[in-house]
Amino acid sequence: MSNLQGKICVVTGATAGIGRMSAHRLAEMGATVIIVVSRNPRKCDEVVEAIRQQTGNPAVEAMPADLSSLQQIRALARRFLDTYPRLDVLLNNAGAIFTSRQVSVDGIEMTWALNHLSYFLLTHLLMDALKAAPAARVINVSSDAHLMGTIAFDDVQFERRRYSGFGAYSQSKLANVMHAYALARRLEGTPITVNALHPGAVATDFGKNNSGVWGKLFKLFGRFTISPEEGAQTSVYLASAPEVAGITGKYFYRCKPKPSSRASYDVQAQEKLWRLSAEMVGL
Ligand SMILES: NC(=O)c1ccc[n+]([C@@H]2O[C@H](COP(=O)([O-])OP(=O)(O)OC[C@H]3O[C@@H](n4cnc5c(N)ncnc54)[C@H](OP(=O)(O)O)[C@@H]3O)[C@@H](O)[C@H]2O)c1
Repeated sequence: MSNLQGKICVVTGATAGIGRMSAHRLAEMGATVIIVVSRNPRKCDEVVEAIRQQTGNPAVEAMPADLSSLQQIRALARRFLDTYPRLDVLLNNAGAIFTSRQVSVDGIEMTWALNHLSYFLLTHLLMDALKAAPAARVINVSSDAHLMGTIAFDDVQFERRRYSGFGAYSQSKLANVMHAYALARRLEGTPITVNALHPGAVATDFGKNNSGVWGKLFKLFGRFTISPEEGAQTSVYLASAPEVAGITGKYFYRCKPKPSSRASYDVQAQEKLWRLSAEMVGL
């Protein structure tokens, strides 16, 4: 097991599923782990306490933020920068699927706001801390759902076309991969690496935020999936393994690089996405 003593890691969406297991594993390896949590302060205290007790590592802290809110992402980044001198690992993991169209407090379609803009803005705001680390790693948890995604540049928020939960989800997961590639390119020549991954089909709370028949379908889907332990493996590998030091701009599955969709490699589209995202978050 890698030794992460002295490393500072931020894991978003760490109250459940893949994120929680990833935070646990990083804490087990001795890292200081900041878990970003949103909805339920009691649940978040329970998770912090459980990880501390189970790993014997007291350096686990929760920072609450609703990552669908731009203002809360900014407050979170400020709090982190005020508290910690650098950031060694940023694991962008929080994500969800919404089977009916919802909008964030900023009036942005929820899947785009939470799954993509939060990765984009949080990474941007923490860049100075990432640069202060000897060789920071940024990891975007995407999904093979991106293979079916397209970025509808004229309507990313499903304002003019009929909303599709899967369409919005696969679009956001494609954006996670393209963001990783565009950022890796920008950081070429620096020690910071940026990679994206597919965790597999994992039995988590994913999708259960939806009611009715969709919520039941997601629960059923849970029977055909791998455990959160297995689902967290690639995230933890990218965060900690010495053999991926210096590897950047790749898409991983089962701890190995694999090709992502053809659309994800379109550099012009990556740059267009970058400009659109920067505009939407007010950079
Ligand atoms: N499960 C799969 O089969 C699968 C497959 C491919 C990719 N993925 C990806 O893996 C990642 C993790 O998914 P999961 O399956 O572990 O999901 P999960 O069990 O539903 O956990 C999602 C986490 O995200 C957090 N979250 C949700 N909305 C948030 C918000 N507005 N602000 C801050 N945090 C928020 C949740 O925290 P609170 O509940 O505290 O808000 C929770 O900790 C996602 O990016 C997903 O797209 C999952």
